[in-house]
Amino acid sequence: MLHDNRSQYGTVSKFLHWSMALLFLWQFLKLGDRINDGEHWIGQTLVPFHGSIGLILLVMIVLRIIWSLTQMNNRPPHEPATVWLVKLGHFGLYVMMVLMPLSAILLMVGKGYGLKFFGIQLVERGAEIPWAASLGEFHSPLAWLTLIMVLGHIGAALFHRLVKRDDIMQRML
Ligand code: HEM
Ligand code: HEM
Repeated sequence: MLHDNRSQYGTVSKFLHWSMALLFLWQFLKLGDRINDGEHWIGQTLVPFHGSIGLILLVMIVLRIIWSLTQMNNRPPHEPATVWLVKLGHFGLYVMMVLMPLSAILLMVGKGYGLKFFGIQLVERGAEIPWAASLGEFHSPLAWLTLIMVLGHIGAALFHRLVKRDDIMQRML
């Protein structure tokens, strides 16, 4: 079943959710650059793809937003008592999924570094664009905020699974 319904997310939503979750967790490995300047196995094998994976995530979030809009009235409902909190939390995650790659592009282009996708030069190196560089400086603080939100989200999912023992996790699996 490709589409979502009232009791389950469909294959498309599940694929987008779990593939993006995996790629986001990969992206957070960039924090490992703070340890020994990234001179370790993770820093040398997984983190070099940070920019390219970030650009893939940008395309995926555009597709996910379009898909979610078509499924909006079709999705599993939330508990009435916390519906606004859950909706706000999910909306916040969408905002961060857009802001993370956008702030990175502003950082790279703003600093004049250009933009590469797996070795293909998308934007040439060039002059600095101070306003873009300043906005791009938010990439790192936004990354920390996103990490906190994702940890809260995972905590909520585990709470439903292990404490409340309801079907919230099941419908995304
Ligand atoms: C969904 C997308 C992304 C996520 C979740 C993400 C996450 C992160 C994280 C966690 C850090 C470490 C921050 C720190 O140590 O304080 C970081 C730094 C960085 N990211 Fe990303 N990133 C994303 C996309 C991108 C893209 C598309 C690029 C480049 C095209 C990029 C370039 C950088 C650079 C250059 C840094 C180092 C910035 C600095 O030290 O100030 N990121 N990112
Ligand atoms: C191990 C990691 C994760 C787990 C266990 C998890 C679990 C879940 C579960 C159970 C749901 C369904 C909630 C409901 O219907 O009320 C859900 C939905 C959602 N998750 Fe996650 N999640 C994880 C990672 C992430 C990450 C990294 C992001 C984004 C950065 C994310 C963003 C969302 C969003 C936006 C929804 C709402 C449904 C949608 O529009 O796709 N999740 N997650």
